[in-house]
Amino acid sequence: MNTAPHTAPHTEPRRPLVDRFGRVHTDLRVSLTDRCNLRCTYCMPAEGLDWLARDSVLGDDEVVRLVRIAVERLGVRSVRLTGGEPLLRRGVVGLVGRLAALGVELSLTTNGIGLARTAAQLREAGLRRVNVSLDTLRPERFAALTRRDRIDDVFAGLAAAKAAGLDPVKINAVPVRGVNEDEIVPLVEFAVGHGYRMRFIESMPLDAQGAWERDAMVTADEILARLGERFDLVPVGRHGNAPAEEWRIAGTQAVVGVIASVTRPFCGGCDRVRLTADGQLRNCLFATEESDLRALLRGGADDDRIEAAWRTSIAGKGPGHAVNSAGFVRPERPMSAIGG
Ligand code: 5AD
Ligand code: SF4
Repeated sequence: MNTAPHTAPHTEPRRPLVDRFGRVHTDLRVSLTDRCNLRCTYCMPAEGLDWLARDSVLGDDEVVRLVRIAVERLGVRSVRLTGGEPLLRRGVVGLVGRLAALGVELSLTTNGIGLARTAAQLREAGLRRVNVSLDTLRPERFAALTRRDRIDDVFAGLAAAKAAGLDPVKINAVPVRGVNEDEIVPLVEFAVGHGYRMRFIESMPLDAQGAWERDAMVTADEILARLGERFDLVPVGRHGNAPAEEWRIAGTQAVVGVIASVTRPFCGGCDRVRLTADGQLRNCLFATEESDLRALLRGGADDDRIEAAWRTSIAGKGPGHAVNSAGFVRPERPMSAIGG
C-alpha cells in the first residue's frame, strides 16, 4: 500500500503495519533471552549454544520503548513474550508489568519450569495467558528429551498457572517420530482432565544442530488420524489469523489445536513480527535477514526513525516460507534465538 515507507512515515503515525500483500501485523513476539534451562533434543545440542553477550541483549527500557512504538504507532495489539526461556530473564515480572501498562494483550510462552514460583506475580502484573511446552507425560522420557530431570517442575508450573487465573493455559507439544508420537492421545487426555488446552506443533527445520528431517516430523494428518482413533472430532476452524486449526472433542467443551507450519502453511494470513533478544526485527520466523533496531536505539534514533525502520522491514516481507521447496535456506538463527 505504501510504496515509500521511509520517506513519510511520521506524517500518518497510526497507519497499521501493512505489507505488500495486504497483511496487517498486529501481533509482536518478543524474545527476552536466548538462554534456556532445558536442552530439548529437537531444539539445541546438549552443551547449549553460544549465548548472546549480556550487553547485546536489550535492557528493559529498550524493550519497553520498542513495544511502546509498536503499540502507539504501528497498531500492534498483542505481545507474546518468548525465549529461549523467558522466565530466566532477571526482573521479568517487573518488565511484564511495564508492558501490560502499555495497554497491550500480553501472553507468554515458557517451558513451565519457572512458573510455579512466578505465575501469581505474572498474573498480578498483567499477564493474561500462557503457553507451556510439554512433549511427554513420562518422567524418564522427559529427562531424555529435554536432557533435564524436571518434569515435576513443569506439572507444578501448569497447576500454578491455572490457579493464578491465567486463561487459557495451553500446552504445546512437538511430536517427533519414534520419540513421543505415542503420547498424542494421552497428552490430550491429560490436558482435558486438568482444564488445559492441548496443541500440537509440526516440527520445523529450526533446530540449532541442523538435524531436522522431514521423515521425523509427525504431520498434521498423522496427528489427526491418531486423535480420530480415540475421539470424535468436530472441526471449529481457526480464530482469525491464529496458526492453530482447532477441533472440538464431540460431547465436550475441550478443544485441540494443530499448528501445521510445514504441511499446511498459514503464511497468507500471517500477522506476526518478531523481535529477538538482541534487538533484531524479523519479519518472518524463517527470514534470512533482520533489521537492527538495537543499533538505532543505541545510536540515538528518535521514535520516527525507529517506526520507519519497522515499516521498511515489513515492506520487505516475502509471501511465505519456502520450507517445502528445493531452494529453502534455513535462517542462521535457531528457534531458541528467534523466539517461537
Ligand atoms: N519446531 C517446532 N516447534 C519447536 N519448538 C521449539 N523448536 C521447535 C521446532 N524446531 C517449540 C517449543 C515451544 C515453542 C516455542 O516452539 O516446543 O513449545
Ligand atoms: Fe528450551 Fe524451548 Fe529449546 Fe526446549 S524448545 S531447549 S524449552 S528453548
